[in-house]
Amino acid sequence: SSRLPVFSNDEVTKHRSLEDGVWVTYKGGVYDVTEFVAMHPGGNKILLAAGGALEPFWALYAVHDQEHVLEILSQYKVGELSVEDRKKQEDAKVSDPFSSDPERHPVLRVNCKKPFNAEPPPEILTESYITPHVFFFKRNHLPVPQVDPASYRLKVEGLPGGALTLSLEDLKTRFPKHTITATMQCAGNRRSDMNKVKQVKGLNWGISAIGNAKWSGARLRDVLLALGYGPEAAQWARHVHFEGLDKDETGTAYGTSIPINKAVSEEGDVLLAYEMNGEDIPPDHGFPVRVVVPGVVGARNVKWLGRILVSAEESGSHWQQHDYKGFSPGTDWNKVDPRSAPAIQELPVQSAITAPADGAVIDRGDDTLTVKGYAWSGGGREVVRVDVSLDGGRTWQVARLRSGDDGQPDEPSPPPGRAWAWKLWELTAPLPPEAEELEIVCKAVDSSYNVQPDTVPPIWNLRGLLSNAWHRVKVRVAE
Ligand code: HEM
Ligand code: MTE
Repeated sequence: SSRLPVFSNDEVTKHRSLEDGVWVTYKGGVYDVTEFVAMHPGGNKILLAAGGALEPFWALYAVHDQEHVLEILSQYKVGELSVEDRKKQEDAKVSDPFSSDPERHPVLRVNCKKPFNAEPPPEILTESYITPHVFFFKRNHLPVPQVDPASYRLKVEGLPGGALTLSLEDLKTRFPKHTITATMQCAGNRRSDMNKVKQVKGLNWGISAIGNAKWSGARLRDVLLALGYGPEAAQWARHVHFEGLDKDETGTAYGTSIPINKAVSEEGDVLLAYEMNGEDIPPDHGFPVRVVVPGVVGARNVKWLGRILVSAEESGSHWQQHDYKGFSPGTDWNKVDPRSAPAIQELPVQSAITAPADGAVIDRGDDTLTVKGYAWSGGGREVVRVDVSLDGGRTWQVARLRSGDDGQPDEPSPPPGRAWAWKLWELTAPLPPEAEELEIVCKAVDSSYNVQPDTVPPIWNLRGLLSNAWHRVKVRVAE
């Protein structure tokens, strides 16, 4: 309101630390967000804007382009920026760091434009066993880096031989090409189901932040062994770090790590992939090289891979230490201690209904109803059964599982513990007579007999991760 005090830019710049207070400006308003810093879903990044304008940062992280973010900000308003200083800020227009991002398919449902985060409509997801790259969900934290394949170099550090570099050609010619079919799922897949229970922080993913592709490349194991990993390194090495070539305005690259045993195991199948579905990896998915860690959360599958480091410690990055962790439903932003939870690696068993869509109207004249979906579990655990209910979970029928496209032969059965790819499933059942509304439910069972929880509240968590309760859709039956 107009009664608030007016501040100059000089005054605002004095507040750029937790000790002096953290002030920011936005569209001419001045905000003291000191108390919000510890609760910020994007972590300490918020301090980068301390003492100045939010606009150039929010241009990079358009996740803030939402009403609820502005509502939070408005609670911290302490004044107005002087008209003179406001004009100066507007003159310093920001150039768009996303201008060289690739074209995307218009059918994708965009959760955030900049950085680009989008998923396909569910019914497209189960149209093919292998997800074409244009329909594969895209989860970027930053602009897509432009990488020249000829000058591309992958740094490998932390092994006895010292720092080494590999070119794309080296990766393709010095190591056997290995191909796996693996499903990748974002930890935030189905976050929207958690949002329905109680608001969480994060992109509002539906059920399609998951996809299944054929990945080809060099085995990480082969590369590490060739570069000197052996019994000596095995004594101290515990983790392998990956860093992307996508860097934020401080020069910090996207980065995470996985346990070394997954990386060097003969059965881990971790790839430094240069092909997706038989073609060069597309720009959105990590061109020219990405890590594929099958059975493990999407976040560890680092795209635009620039550096590998073998280490005794876990990655210290924001994404390893502060994000992508699970918490109790009773933990809120005031008391969350990220150090109290391990980083998510293998994912729990998951399934969802892709057709019919929630709210669809089924013709009473149809004798049967066909329900379709996907099912997958982390850690190489194979999905062994999917149960489907048409009456909200009172009675159940077993769906038919398939691991190939309709009419195509199934993929050969994977060795135990290496079931990296999803199963598509289908159930055709008589339409229950007289029902006016059906609540269709699905739940999967994996080879360790892990099952999905029946409801969301017991697994709700403030970030909306690991959302794998029974999936439910309601349809109406009409004349
Ligand atoms: C996410 C608020 C400043 C970086 C978020 C979210 C909120 C928020 C509410 C979660 C949004 C959602 O997913 O629905 C704020 C407020 C700020 C501020 C009130 C101002 C004082 C900043 C700045 C940066 C930043 C200056 C970067 C320099 C991020 C990032 C995320 C995020 C990277 C996404 C985290 C993720 O989902 O991976 N912020 N933010 N924020 N913020 Fe901020
Ligand atoms: N790698 C880099 N370099 N930068 C990123 O933003 N996002 C991660 C992971 N690897 C990310 C990354 C996350 S959170 C997920 S879920 C997957 O990539 C998404 O992969 P996709 O975009 O190919 O579907």
